[in-house]
Amino acid sequence: MKQVVLAAYARGNPKASDFRIENVAVPVPGDREILLRVLYIAVDPLIRFSLDETTLTGATRMALNTVMVGPTVAQVAASNHPDYTAGDFVEGRTGWSEYAIVAPDKSDYRGPPRKIDASLAPVSTALGALGGPGQTAYEGVVNTGRLKAGETMVISAAAGAVGSIAGQIGKVLGARVVGIAGGAEKVRGLLDLGFDAAVDYKAPDFAEQLKAALPEGADVYFENVGGAVTLAVMPLLKRGARMPVCGYIAYYGVGMEGPGPDHLPGFYRHIMNKGLEIKSFAGMLAGQKGLQDIAAWIKEGKIRFAESIVEGIDAAPEAFASVFSGHAHVGKLLIKVGDPA
Ligand SMILES: NC(=O)c1ccc[n+]([C@@H]2O[C@H](COP(=O)([O-])OP(=O)(O)OC[C@H]3O[C@@H](n4cnc5c(N)ncnc54)[C@H](OP(=O)(O)O)[C@@H]3O)[C@@H](O)[C@H]2O)c1
Repeated sequence: MKQVVLAAYARGNPKASDFRIENVAVPVPGDREILLRVLYIAVDPLIRFSLDETTLTGATRMALNTVMVGPTVAQVAASNHPDYTAGDFVEGRTGWSEYAIVAPDKSDYRGPPRKIDASLAPVSTALGALGGPGQTAYEGVVNTGRLKAGETMVISAAAGAVGSIAGQIGKVLGARVVGIAGGAEKVRGLLDLGFDAAVDYKAPDFAEQLKAALPEGADVYFENVGGAVTLAVMPLLKRGARMPVCGYIAYYGVGMEGPGPDHLPGFYRHIMNKGLEIKSFAGMLAGQKGLQDIAAWIKEGKIRFAESIVEGIDAAPEAFASVFSGHAHVGKLLIKVGDPA
């Protein structure tokens, strides 16, 4: 089988050459272990936190030459554990390999592999709308952002896995939703998903376009990015606006100091003058309630799960690097590793 290992720690944004593909024997499950055949690997920006030589964020640092960590959807190929049967679909953090052994009794705080109900939606959605990104969108919009009907929400990295669902949840709640993304193709994709307006942050007149899309300002800023995008949004937030801080991908490669000059004085002025509520959150807080609501909205046709699927585990390093250097995919980016048996 093939597996992808970390060949070099990332400097700045990760490159495909930071990874190496190896051929190894398929492992054999021991007592109370299961053998999983991986179907999909999630391309997940949070993995970036584990790839620094000196950790910048408190995340666990990966050792060189070990299998890349990350969420996957898999099918049980063989089971020596009473809770799992060959053929079951599961979601877990088995990493970037075609097969993996899991000991469900010894799993970390995330718990044993989660069984997937394949009748709800395609199993790949367990890594997108009906998995971590869906929960994150729900928690940020519903609980942390407290978005209400009639309000306006603006979202950065809106064409990503989280942003594309967050915007659609905003529409289900009766809000006006404006997305920010890189490139004309993504802007079109957001309008297709039902966003009221979408703005390309790479356009030279981005700040003016954003102002025109938010004539009365925004009540909620769903923050995924930081940097220049956030600087353009801050003046457009209304008094008392809420800013659920989901991520800050523009800074993932730069460490604690980051590049100067420091914009904090202006940033704090907006917080102070407008009484902004800025709060970080973890998507998993949405729990089962978030997933059940999203599943119901998918069934009612109110939410579409946008997915972009790249074929083959060999494509994983390039696909992961493209998250940080710009690509045209809308929705959850997945690597398809195999077909269900
Ligand atoms: N709080 C939580 O529990 C939680 C859970 C999951 C994810 N997150 C965070 O949520 C954010 C979105 O995650 P996701 O899974 O939706 O990611 P995703 O689907 O991979 O989308 C990420 C997008 O971010 C944009 N981007 C990358 N670098 C950028 C930069 N320097 N400036 C502006 N935009 C940039 C790119 O889109 P463009 O082409 O449009 O630039 C990229 O496609 C990330 O910050 C992630 O770390 C948080």
